[in-house]
Amino acid sequence: MIIGVLSQKGGVGKTTIAVNLAATYAKSGLRVLLVDADPQSSAQQWSAARDADPLFSVVGMARATLHRDLPDIAKDYQVVIIDGAPRVNELGRAAILASDLVLIPVQPSPYDIWAAAETVNLIREAQQFKPGLRGLFVINRKIANTAIGRDVTEALGQFEDIPVLPVALHQRVVYAESAGQGLAVLEVDPKGGAAREVAELAKVLMVNQEKKAA
Ligand SMILES: Nc1ncnc2c1ncn2[C@@H]1O[C@H](COP(=O)(O)OP(=O)(O)OP(=O)(O)O)[C@@H](O)[C@H]1O
Ligand SMILES: [Mg+2]
Repeated sequence: MIIGVLSQKGGVGKTTIAVNLAATYAKSGLRVLLVDADPQSSAQQWSAARDADPLFSVVGMARATLHRDLPDIAKDYQVVIIDGAPRVNELGRAAILASDLVLIPVQPSPYDIWAAAETVNLIREAQQFKPGLRGLFVINRKIANTAIGRDVTEALGQFEDIPVLPVALHQRVVYAESAGQGLAVLEVDPKGGAAREVAELAKVLMVNQEKKAA
């Protein structure tokens, strides 16, 4: 399974989600590769900041030929997660085409909702070449019991072909704190809310993919 965590918008949580999903799958015993497809190299910086033993491999592949190069490398892994780059269309297209499933993080903000259309259009374009490709929204940095938290799900309903996942990640300081040490939230606070919601997200994505394969 190749999961692209992608959005043309910057700072929505792509790297945070990619790293934590990779760690969650790796901890559950799967062979995981994290592909850093962003020229900013954030995922590789995360890995470099880490003193602990690696949970999974991280490889830098910020290139427009990613969709052609990745299948060969991916076959040695059970799960491949792509951490995408914001803004760059050529890299965005390659990362989308390389994925089986595109996870689009969206923050509860009107700017993110407006920007989502751009990524959705890239997915629709890619589906012409790869009909099995699917997109899913995940709400990130949700603040519990706020109107904007509910509005975002409603607003994303306009993209009928891209469902909003029932699991959201909340605004939690442990996401940033853990990243500074090259750690995943499940390593810093294994029983905490962040580790729990990422585990739920990982499970939902897996079930989604298995359903599709059946
Ligand atoms: N759920 C969350 N709670 C708290 N902070 C978060 C959360 N998700 C992301 N952040 C913080 O928001 C900032 C942006 O997140 P991140 O780098 O993952 O986004 P990105 O989409 O990868 O950005 P870029 O487009 O630059 O690659 C980081 O400082 C990160 O620690
Ligand atoms: Mg990033």
